[in-house]
Amino acid sequence: MTSSRRFLLLFTVSALVLIGVVLATDLDSRGWHRGTPAANAGTVIAGQTESMVLQFPDALASQIKRKPTLLVYFSPTCPHCQHVQPELNALSERLGRTADVVGIAGGRATQGQINVYAQEYNVPYDIIPDTMRDIGTILGIRSTPSALLVQRVDDGFEVVDAFYPYSPGYDAFVEGRIAGDPFAAFREGEFQGTNVCATCHTEEAASYGLSHHSLAWNTLVKHEETTNDKCTSCHVTGAGLPTGWDGSATSDLVNVGCESCHSAGGPHDGQRVEPQSTCESCHDADHSIAFTYEKGLPLIDHYRASAMDDATYREARTALYEGTAPRTLLAFEDGAFVGSDQCQSCHESEHAWWKDSPHGQAMATLSKPEVVAEHPDAANNVACVSCHASPTRSGPPPSELAGFKTDESVGCESCHGPGERHVAAGGGSDNIEGLGESCPVCVLEAICTSCHTQAWDPEWDLDTRLPAVHHGG
Ligand code: HEC
Ligand code: HEC
Ligand code: HEC
Ligand code: HEC
Ligand code: HEC
Ligand code: HEC
Ligand code: HEC
Ligand code: HEC
Repeated sequence: MTSSRRFLLLFTVSALVLIGVVLATDLDSRGWHRGTPAANAGTVIAGQTESMVLQFPDALASQIKRKPTLLVYFSPTCPHCQHVQPELNALSERLGRTADVVGIAGGRATQGQINVYAQEYNVPYDIIPDTMRDIGTILGIRSTPSALLVQRVDDGFEVVDAFYPYSPGYDAFVEGRIAGDPFAAFREGEFQGTNVCATCHTEEAASYGLSHHSLAWNTLVKHEETTNDKCTSCHVTGAGLPTGWDGSATSDLVNVGCESCHSAGGPHDGQRVEPQSTCESCHDADHSIAFTYEKGLPLIDHYRASAMDDATYREARTALYEGTAPRTLLAFEDGAFVGSDQCQSCHESEHAWWKDSPHGQAMATLSKPEVVAEHPDAANNVACVSCHASPTRSGPPPSELAGFKTDESVGCESCHGPGERHVAAGGGSDNIEGLGESCPVCVLEAICTSCHTQAWDPEWDLDTRLPAVHHGG
């Protein structure tokens, strides 16, 4: 216990726990909070500044030669350990003769279990058991996997760096530290993963944890589309690029990570990409409504979390996870709703279908005797009208009845967006939301569920409901 407190635990920083409370709330010209870029870089770059020499029992000491050695403390049954094993195997191969890796199996792992594990995961380095947990105590292990980089010196073993816990992607740091430069592992065009960026860029990483990008993979999990390459291309990092996402659900390149916008390795691999140039490769016309960089930029505030206390942060993260966080980007472009009757002359068949559909009759519903019996003033109540009628223009939902077209129910523009420009131009395809085939779900799900909420439509399922509104092409 006491020995663990002496370590400089460079890598215990996780996006979820490191949220500094910053008082300044003024925003910069991008609409971002003030923050410190790469706030933890000084600590990471400096490494272990205090000299610390440990004594190891023979079983371990005999494994360590006169070269840097990474001690990996793990448990054969711990899923996180199993998850990083392929990365550690590759690291061990890459290090070759410059450094060694030694595994230490903690807890109750028997030699038999260790052998099975080593075989199953093709571990290329030696593993010793720590049945009495005395090594774990000396190393100050609190969770697995953890790793400690040490170097044999005359009076024991000097600690070079500690990775407590060892997170996926940290192989880059081990290599950097052995090379004497934390940036050494950044090679041109090579993806590192958000965990690596997060070690130095702590504030950016915490704010990233509040953006929809950080849960883009989760969206595909919910829709059971994680193996559909028509979906993964934009919901992961570096799809189709060498060293980018490799197709596996356990890769640390799932989600739209830092390197989706900053390119592999960020600017640190020697190649700097202007993040602005990347947005539209994913936020194209089909997958994002009226996307512009100006509209999106304030919503990816890299220092938003810096102004939050822990409780507020957890609340925001939970809302994101539960799908109740605002989706500001999905707002239709600004414009007036001209009304469905304005569409009739050119879209005769769509209008005829719509008029008698539940959407076209949604206001009539509110005046039905059985509804009125329970909600006497439903047709004049904003709390009902807000989903049963279209507003008079796009933007935040109106709070007054006058803000709605109560005579037209859920009109064309509730789904297709403001028709002002489209009608003025006599038609067109770039001035109205077509809601076409290519990625219905990205935009559609969000449009439909703005009214088909959990409360009003608990059985909502896009795949079964969409065919019921089919009226296009
Ligand atoms: C070892 C520490 C460290 C790591 C790891 C790290 N950075 Fe940085 N980064 C820095 C420092 C230091 C700066 C300069 C900060 C400043 O301007 O004050 C910086 C600057 C940046 C900048 C702004 C400069 C520019 O040219 O645009 C970006 C973007 C960036 N890093 C992205 C990344 C990404 C993406 C990763 C992960 C692949 C990453 N960084 C990993 C330390 C690090
Ligand atoms: C060309 C890039 C691209 C492809 C391909 C893509 N998406 Fe998306 N998806 C996006 C973007 C960008 C957004 C965010 C839209 C916004 O907020 O404006 C998004 C948003 C979503 C959302 C809405 C998230 C929510 O919580 O409301 C869902 C659901 C979704 N995508 C699922 C899918 C599925 C399923 C596929 C495959 C059929 C897919 N996406 C293919 C780019 C893409
Ligand atoms: C959705 C795209 C996107 C993602 C994801 C993203 N960034 Fe950025 N980043 C940007 C944009 C855009 C800018 C602003 C560029 C400008 O001001 O011109 C920026 C700026 C920065 C800067 C410069 C800081 C400043 O104040 O100008 C750093 C450092 C940085 N990002 C690091 C990161 C790290 C680390 C991550 C992951 C934790 C990350 N970014 C994720 C798009 C992104
Ligand atoms: C690799 C593809 C990709 C890139 C590049 C990308 N995005 Fe995204 N973006 C997505 C996906 C996918 C989502 C939706 C994630 C989800 O909810 O599942 C999204 C969501 C968003 C959201 C959140 C939606 C909301 O309503 O709040 C914003 C804002 C956003 N992106 C802005 C940007 C900006 C600005 C850039 C460029 C600097 C950018 N994105 C680059 C794929 C990308
Ligand atoms: C003066 C005739 C005219 C009026 C009025 C009109 N449209 Fe259109 N609309 C068109 C034409 C023509 C197209 C086909 C454009 C193309 O494919 O290039 C079209 C296409 C569309 C599309 C498909 C766009 C796409 O991306 O494929 C939608 C959706 C649409 N209109 C909705 C509406 C709505 C809603 C209204 C009423 C607010 C309306 N239209 C009023 C003529 C009109
Ligand atoms: C502006 C709010 C709003 C939007 C947006 C919206 N709906 Fe609806 N929807 C309603 C209301 C209200 C009803 C109930 C109408 C009634 O019966 O009075 C409804 C009814 C329906 C029904 C008929 C339900 C049944 O049980 O028969 C289907 C199907 C449907 N919507 C699908 C969709 C789809 C798919 C989308 C997205 C493309 C969508 N809706 C978008 C408000 C909306
Ligand atoms: C958040 C949006 C929303 C609000 C607010 C809302 N509704 Fe609805 N309502 C819907 C949707 C969506 C449906 C269709 C549900 C379905 O298909 O299962 C619906 C359906 C109904 C139905 C059943 C229609 C049918 O024929 O089965 C009635 C009745 C109804 N709403 C009345 C009301 C009343 C009264 C209020 C105000 C107290 C109200 N609604 C407020 C979205 C909403
Ligand atoms: C409940 C949401 C909703 C309403 C209300 C709605 N639409 Fe649509 N519309 C869609 C969806 C979703 C599609 C594309 C998928 C489909 O048709 O199956 C579509 C497709 C279209 C298309 C064809 C686009 C293409 O590329 O082929 C046109 C034109 C159109 N709608 C016009 C209208 C008009 C005009 C109205 C009003 C009279 C209207 N829609 C009402 C959701 C809606």
